[in-house]
Amino acid sequence: MAEAERPRTLWAVADLHVSVRGNREVVAGLAPDNPDDWLIVAGDVAERPELILRTLGELAARYARVIFTPGNHDLFCRGTDRHVGEDRYAQLIEGCRTLGVLTPEDPYPQFGGVTVCPLFTLYDYSWRRPGTTVDEALAEAAERGVVFTDEMSIRPFADPVLWCRRRLAYTVRRLSRIAGPTVLVNHWPLAPEPLAALRHPEMTPWCGTRHTRDWPRRYGARAVVYGHLHIPAVHEIDGVRHAEVSLGYPRQWRRRPPEPRWPYPVMEDR
Ligand SMILES: [Fe+2]
Repeated sequence: MAEAERPRTLWAVADLHVSVRGNREVVAGLAPDNPDDWLIVAGDVAERPELILRTLGELAARYARVIFTPGNHDLFCRGTDRHVGEDRYAQLIEGCRTLGVLTPEDPYPQFGGVTVCPLFTLYDYSWRRPGTTVDEALAEAAERGVVFTDEMSIRPFADPVLWCRRRLAYTVRRLSRIAGPTVLVNHWPLAPEPLAALRHPEMTPWCGTRHTRDWPRRYGARAVVYGHLHIPAVHEIDGVRHAEVSLGYPRQWRRRPPEPRWPYPVMEDR
């Protein structure tokens, strides 16, 4: 098809992990089919702000619009960093603003009559085994050898539970003002169904919050885009398509099934 006849596409990726050898080449190969295409980057670009912003800047030079929301890796800090915790988040948002990359702090853009909403809701350990406290769930996970780096690289600098609670209030306030269909974009899944595919169920406390479960229906989602699990799949939940669009690590993407396509075409605007 001639370029002008091609519909413009809203593409989505997540978990690019460009600090991992092999992934940078994959990301270097990302290019639009049509110069008017948009790209969603749903978190976990890398761990260092310079590399995250450099990568987003490169993508912003290729796509008409790049929309980014941070994941847990993007928030990993060291004690020696100048910006830690919520300050790191602010640093990334500020950097994106200079690059013209949209984040959860910007007005939500419209793509073909649909409002694209990058969200940043973090997690609050509420997807833990029923009847356990947060401390018990974390201890149980540790006993089975599951310890998220988040506990060393995020939690010493920010309280995820309190941060998550404030993010939920902020996000609900904004989503409730939207009329018409939406695409909801978050690093962490919004619904718990995809977690059933995790090899280690002890990981679920770090995978989101139960408070977002009915958001897709409540806020008119035509699609939900997320990453984090490194289990690319499309789930139909309450009549809404939830697509995990992660790239993941080379050992994972080398044996990726042909579906869902990557990068993932969320929608076209004809
Ligand atoms: Fe993640």
